Amino acid sequence: MASSILFKHALFFILSVLATSYIAQASDPNILADFIVPTNFSTPIDGNFFTFTGMRRLVANSTNPPNFKATKATMVEFLALNGQSVSMAVLQFPAGGVNPPHTHPRSAELLFVVEGSMEVGFVDTANKLYTQTLQLGDMFVFPKGLVHYQFNADAKKQATAISAFGSANAGTVSAPVTLFATGIDDEILAKSFKTDIATIQKIKASLATKP
Ligand SMILES: *[C@@H]1O[C@H](CO)[C@@H](O)[C@H](O)[C@H]1NC(C)=O
Ligand SMILES: *[C@@H]1O[C@H](CO)[C@@H](O)[C@H](O)[C@H]1NC(C)=O
Repeated sequence: MASSILFKHALFFILSVLATSYIAQASDPNILADFIVPTNFSTPIDGNFFTFTGMRRLVANSTNPPNFKATKATMVEFLALNGQSVSMAVLQFPAGGVNPPHTHPRSAELLFVVEGSMEVGFVDTANKLYTQTLQLGDMFVFPKGLVHYQFNADAKKQATAISAFGSANAGTVSAPVTLFATGIDDEILAKSFKTDIATIQKIKASLATKP
């Protein structure tokens, strides 16, 4: 009897440990220092290391570019983010601009509309589509790893959003680029999309030439 209770306690303990380590692995790994300085970093560390000025030019210019543009501040552009499990991006949409379906394999995305309005949507693993029309000041969360998009449906006004990520390097997998601009064989794509090779080649050609 006592041994059976002990066994239950042991089992519960093991399951708790497994669950905890699973949760820990669901985000960027923990670091064993306050912050990570690249080994080849030559200048002494001061406040500048923790500062990113790459968004200044966006704030200085109130006109969005003619095509959708994402300006990122990940650990690639902003070295101090390495190990901190956070990053950001500024998403600029011209009137009618779209951020095509894509996923971020390593993080959820918390989007905050700071100018205009936008249509957003994501598809879960049961192929259910969730959509919303966001107004200025609204936030929307795209769950980690799920295919999603944003679209500025307004024909006259531009729109801008700021997105936060729970990874220093969330990664972006663009559905159109991944499928049609990486050299996957035309026949494989034609069969997969239940269409002909000419249609696949047409899509590949427009992706290669149009922004
Ligand atoms: C350090 O090394 C990385 C990768 O090798 C390189 O991209 C970066 O420019 C280097 N930085 C400096 C300050 O030398
Ligand atoms: C502002 O950005 C727009 C769109 O990219 C560009 O056409 C324009 O030249 C920029 N204006 C200034 C002052 O840099």
